[in-house]
Amino acid sequence: MDISDIVKTISQENFAEDLIKGLSSIPKYLPSRYLYDDKGDVLFQKIMNLEEYYLTRAEFQILQNNKEDLLDYFIHYNKPFDLIELGAGDGLKTRILLKFLTDKNAAFQYIPVDISGNILKLLSSELRKEFPDLVLKPHCNDYFSAMSELRKFEGKRKVVLFMGGNIGNFSLQESINFYNELNKSLLAGDLVLTGFDLKKDPRLILKAYDDSEGITAKFNLNLLERINKEFSGDFKTENFSHFPYYDPTTGECKSFLLSTVNQSVRLKALDLNISFRAWESIQTEVSKKYSENEIEALADLTGFAKIHNFYDDNKYFTDSLWVKK
Ligand code: AVI
Repeated sequence: MDISDIVKTISQENFAEDLIKGLSSIPKYLPSRYLYDDKGDVLFQKIMNLEEYYLTRAEFQILQNNKEDLLDYFIHYNKPFDLIELGAGDGLKTRILLKFLTDKNAAFQYIPVDISGNILKLLSSELRKEFPDLVLKPHCNDYFSAMSELRKFEGKRKVVLFMGGNIGNFSLQESINFYNELNKSLLAGDLVLTGFDLKKDPRLILKAYDDSEGITAKFNLNLLERINKEFSGDFKTENFSHFPYYDPTTGECKSFLLSTVNQSVRLKALDLNISFRAWESIQTEVSKKYSENEIEALADLTGFAKIHNFYDDNKYFTDSLWVKK
């Protein structure tokens, strides 16, 4: 079956509803999942290659340096398992694990889940070339819908990967809901490996979200361009400025688009007018940073137990391995 047969794109209806809700709220916000259209995917790839964006490199190092220990936990008496990756992206890091698993002839199938059908298509065709024997079952879905689908994959042990610091794009309450939901889709003994960006020097964090080349600014402003394209809007991107802000107490790095002037924007397709005061904000993203205590508390609260935290050399990031209790 071709991937396009199973690809389900997020409906335009949801996007419209979320737009109306977010832009009519005080303060205004837009859900960060809409940052990832075709252009947003390309910009995010560029972000991951930036010197200032340490997250991707750190996690890559964690997987390189710990693959044997990690996979010992996954392979467990060579019993077959489902390797499910939520928010698979370009799968660059996961390739390290896939290579190791296929070299070891481990009995598993790989189920990458992503909201970007575009990225998933690319990933699948590359993986099919690189690993012809890999059993690959891609799913285009958001995490929450994917989790209820997970319940259909019965009979085998599940190992769920949620890498790249994607968990940081949830608020703390959303993270609790996420792991509670995930817990319902798993059986005792199933594993979850999550990539958490750790609290560190706030200056380093801010640079990662305000890079000197302005790629992250373009990534955020592209959301307005996307809205213009899909809803016949007239956002003037030159009248908005990207502004990240990090709070070391909560660990939340929030990204905003600030309206630099008083202005009114029309989204013709939705018959919606939105007015902005000068310096009014639209929140586009939260990227939460965690302490080790918060990670353990989160596991505890949602019915998991931490097995081990794997770190990069700088201890900027951790891949935290949990087991369902
Ligand atoms: C996808 N996610 C983990 C990224 C992050 O770090 O929050 C998205 C991103 N936004 C700006 N730069 C990267």
